Amino acid sequence: MTFPADRPATWFVTGTSRGLGLELVRQLLERGDNVAATTRSTDRLLRALDADTTRLLPLAVDLRDEAAVAQAVRNTTERFGGLDVVVNNAGYGYLAAVEETTDRDVRDMLDVQVIGVWNVLRATLPILREQRGGHVVNVSSVLGLTSVPGWGLYCAGKYALEGLTEALAAEVAEFGVKVTIVEPGYFRTDFLTTDSLALPHATTAAYPAIREMVENHLALQGNQLGDPVRGARLMIERVVSGEGPLRQILGSDSHAYATAKVQALRANLDAAARTASASDFPA
Ligand SMILES: NC(=O)c1ccc[n+]([C@@H]2O[C@H](COP(=O)([O-])OP(=O)(O)OC[C@H]3O[C@@H](n4cnc5c(N)ncnc54)[C@H](OP(=O)(O)O)[C@@H]3O)[C@@H](O)[C@H]2O)c1
Repeated sequence: MTFPADRPATWFVTGTSRGLGLELVRQLLERGDNVAATTRSTDRLLRALDADTTRLLPLAVDLRDEAAVAQAVRNTTERFGGLDVVVNNAGYGYLAAVEETTDRDVRDMLDVQVIGVWNVLRATLPILREQRGGHVVNVSSVLGLTSVPGWGLYCAGKYALEGLTEALAAEVAEFGVKVTIVEPGYFRTDFLTTDSLALPHATTAAYPAIREMVENHLALQGNQLGDPVRGARLMIERVVSGEGPLRQILGSDSHAYATAKVQALRANLDAAARTASASDFPA
């Protein structure tokens, strides 16, 4: 099945009261599509939207709660009569050294960025698979490809998301279900504000470079390179066209970081080329 041209498509988007998710909802409603939008605060979503909301189903959902996610998907198909596109967008940044990151913080992050996504996938994939068509868009980050000091937990979540999504893409291709991993660089959303970002108290003075990085990132707010309006438009175009590689890189900064990672990985592979076989059983 290709993207429906003869009727409004139905999208299920998570994390929609701010940023990229909010911009996606706005543009999808402008297109005349149906949008089921999950959020922790439907009030915030409705206050932020200045669009015609006739085709909007705002859903207050705790993504960590599998039953609540399944109910939200049922509400979506009941209201709109089907489902075409799933966008797992919800996520948040977390800045601290690895050794400062608590057990609770790790579980909270993975609850949203991995378990929450899995809850959405378990509830939606049977629908897409059985109708033999649809598109899953998982919003990762360039930090799902490369990791930097102070971002260990966020990267752990996004790397996990990338891993499961690569497997998913290969699993569902035969059912006509397309999969895209979106990898934004810095985007001018609420991501780097203290409303969105988790900033645990420093527990050691051992990492002055991380404190400096945190200050620099807070100061970056409002000057990020990425435009959420353009980013959301490109994500929609990618889905509507059905064309493109697995990874949608958004932002020249993202492209540069990803390129540097590939080059470092290439150098690492070259350095290991002679020694990798040393652990093989002899032929
Ligand atoms: N902006 C960037 O620089 C950047 C770069 C790379 C990747 N990303 C990724 O892009 C996606 C969208 O982020 P954004 O830039 O639009 O940031 P944002 O403006 O802070 O919006 C994040 C959205 O995620 C949801 N969210 C945040 N914390 C959550 C939690 N604990 N539980 C459930 N939902 C939560 C929020 O939904 P509700 O409040 O409506 O529930 C919110 O609408 C995220 O996955 C982020 O990791 C962003």
